[in-house]
Amino acid sequence: MDSLKTKIIEIVKKLYGVDVPVEFAAVPAEIKGDYSCNVAMRLAKAAGKAPRDIAAEIIAELPGEYAYEVAGPGFINISVSGKALSEQLEAAWSEDYGNNQSGAGKVAVSEFPSTNMAKPYSVGHLRPGTQGWAAKQILEANGWKVITDNHLGDAGTPFGIWATGFKRSDKTLDDITVYDLGEIYIKMKADMKAEEAAGEHALADSAQDWLLKLEAGDAEAVELSTRFNKISLDHIHSVMKRMNLSTEYELGESYFVERGKALVEKYLAEGKFVKNDDGSVICPLDEYGIDVPMLMLKSNGAALYATTDLGCLDYRLHEWKADRIVYAVGAEQKFYFEQLFAMAKKLGWEAELQHVWFGTIDQVGPDGKREKMSSRKGVVLLEAMLDDAEKRVRENFASEELSDEDVRKVATGAIKYSDFIADRKMGILYDPEKIFALTGQSGPFCQYACVRMRRILEKNADFAGADFGDYDFAAEKAVLLKLLDFPALVAGVADNLEAHRIAGYCFELAQEMNRYYENAPISSAEDSIRAARLWLVEKAAFVLGRGLDLLGVEIPEKM
Ligand code: ARG
Repeated sequence: MDSLKTKIIEIVKKLYGVDVPVEFAAVPAEIKGDYSCNVAMRLAKAAGKAPRDIAAEIIAELPGEYAYEVAGPGFINISVSGKALSEQLEAAWSEDYGNNQSGAGKVAVSEFPSTNMAKPYSVGHLRPGTQGWAAKQILEANGWKVITDNHLGDAGTPFGIWATGFKRSDKTLDDITVYDLGEIYIKMKADMKAEEAAGEHALADSAQDWLLKLEAGDAEAVELSTRFNKISLDHIHSVMKRMNLSTEYELGESYFVERGKALVEKYLAEGKFVKNDDGSVICPLDEYGIDVPMLMLKSNGAALYATTDLGCLDYRLHEWKADRIVYAVGAEQKFYFEQLFAMAKKLGWEAELQHVWFGTIDQVGPDGKREKMSSRKGVVLLEAMLDDAEKRVRENFASEELSDEDVRKVATGAIKYSDFIADRKMGILYDPEKIFALTGQSGPFCQYACVRMRRILEKNADFAGADFGDYDFAAEKAVLLKLLDFPALVAGVADNLEAHRIAGYCFELAQEMNRYYENAPISSAEDSIRAARLWLVEKAAFVLGRGLDLLGVEIPEKM
């Protein structure tokens, strides 16, 4: 239908001398036609004519491949034959149907999940992972080369804090876990705060000493640091593996400390940054409408989050030659990224920088009100959430005897899909009743639809590719129209990275297929019809599988 849109745009330009966007809407079954177009109504003012007359004038110019009719106040209704649609799909089909090359030759960086080393992986880093992965998938489908990078939160003083706390604890290097390290870190932070309030500094000094020892290569400090880092990283990787997330690079904040500091000096010398009386360095951003300058370096010369982001941005732009950088980070950091991107403009850096932000994960609290997700112990750990999800899936599918791998796929599929139910800018409500349900808009519903199609194809494997004669595809129109929408959808979400639109599409396609089976029996149909219908199921299975893959939702073998 894209060529028809282009044709209408040309006709409008010719007849009325204006450029208008042309969209088609699918029309409900009770109305004659398959698509309707409201362009005539939009033109009424510019053309000074009644919309119905405009519609008739446009139709008179249209090529004869479809049937057209003026409807209602001035819609152009377009009827297409199922056969023509099937031919259109066949002509557009390829093994990467849905993909396009609009990003060809361009490099994007997608940054996720950017967890912090000091604490165990919590639900706070769930959305960065799912959204960042979907961003990568969508960009690749649009032809971009995508570099993925886990911007680990590993700078600052965690080591000194860990080492001091560890020495005070009853843990040994053999039995300490990532959860112990997390607790040690949280407790130490609290104790250090209390200490500071009391005007003391023994713990802070000890943490500092450990850092100095580490820098000096002290054997014990090196041993502790190596062990703690390994425990933390192994944990992060094992959670990512369970979520089926991975990144090509893992250049944490600490990797960029020196680069960032050197750049601060450079831009200070160039006058773009300013040194305060206390020695701290800022980047004024008034000229970008931001009256809070960005703090680039602490008064004691120590690096900040922004210092490492400065170094990192420079690295991505100049070493990786990135044309676009996507940061999948929660809404709390919106202002920070506004500052960072304004700073980049000030430095003359051209790339497209995008903060793919999102709301929090909420739960229904004991009082029935919506609140940020938490547990009795505080934050909800992602491992605990995944364990709980797997338990639910095992219960829901008790009779199916799912393999462990399939349980994992359904559990993570449900969680990931729930992240895409609504526009990412909204918070999401973690409602297990809905998320793991096989009905309604859920991951399992979409996964099941895909598994069902694959099963139909397996059962009828003999008929694949058989001749379907002059079958008219009348019963298949709705599914065909849906499948034909897919490439434009993938192209349409590339700019704003609206993965939820893909999720909505997958749900609608799955529903459309369920309706289809009711009207169009497959196994009992005569050979040529059966072959035609299998051809369609194969296309639908591919598109649904591809759509879910863009979201990082895996398809189980069975469910
Ligand atoms: N580790 C940070 C956090 O958990 C997120 C890092 C975001 N990325 C960045 N380049 N600043 O809040």
